[in-house]
Amino acid sequence: MSTKLEKKTISQTFNKISKRYDLINRVLSFGIDIYWRSVVRRHLPIHPSMRLLDLATGTADQIIALMNRAKNIRSAIGIDLAVDMLSIGKAKIARTPYNHQVSLLEADACNIPLNNETTDCVTMSFGIRNVPDVGKCLREMYRVLTHRGRALVLEFSLPKNRFLKSLHLFYLRNILPRVGRLLSKNDEAYTYLNETIETFPSGRSFCALLEEAGFSNVRAIPLTFGIVTLYVAEKMSYDS
Ligand SMILES: C[S@@+](CC[C@H](N)C(=O)[O-])C[C@H]1O[C@@H](n2cnc3c(N)ncnc32)[C@H](O)[C@@H]1O
Repeated sequence: MSTKLEKKTISQTFNKISKRYDLINRVLSFGIDIYWRSVVRRHLPIHPSMRLLDLATGTADQIIALMNRAKNIRSAIGIDLAVDMLSIGKAKIARTPYNHQVSLLEADACNIPLNNETTDCVTMSFGIRNVPDVGKCLREMYRVLTHRGRALVLEFSLPKNRFLKSLHLFYLRNILPRVGRLLSKNDEAYTYLNETIETFPSGRSFCALLEEAGFSNVRAIPLTFGIVTLYVAEKMSYDS
């Protein structure tokens, strides 16, 4: 399978695994994804009444992790291509006290259905490596952000240390696809996952893509030996 999938194939793949997605996430990350999402919260911009946009929101775990703790989020919009992932997210949000502040919509992260400069913070967790045009998606994030708005992109990466990198590659190539296949009952989804992790630009290369899209003060924060990286980037201009 190619490491870049068509939009339709992406949504079909995630629709197929949607029911077991949260469980598989917890198992394959040994529960550490909860910690990674909490690090995103610590890097939210300081804002008294924030409008948040979460791209590739899936089952809304990143929005929930933020809304549970950050009391300064006025509203949150989550967008995703996979309607079945969104349905699970909607059911989870419906059980929360902030139900009326959150909307989940079927939409493309490369063509965001929002006006320019209408969002104070854009988050995207484990979604950027799936989009067909990464540059377009980053420019869309930039367009919808307000002046001093912030993009927080969480994505898998590979450790720099050679020993840890080989260990992690062994996990990605041999264990993750097998466990993923077993739990999801889907042959392709988790093979695709490990291929995209290995080929996607990370660290300085991904920071350069953020800068090309117009962002300033770009930094990469490696987490858990570098198997995941949080990218923090700011929009410091009024141009969109
Ligand atoms: C690995 S999941 C991550 C979900 C969620 N952000 C999380 O942290 O659990 C990737 C999600 O990206 C979505 N996706 C992929 N390409 C997309 C696009 N172009 N626009 C919107 N969503 C997209 C998929 O449908 C899927 O739900």
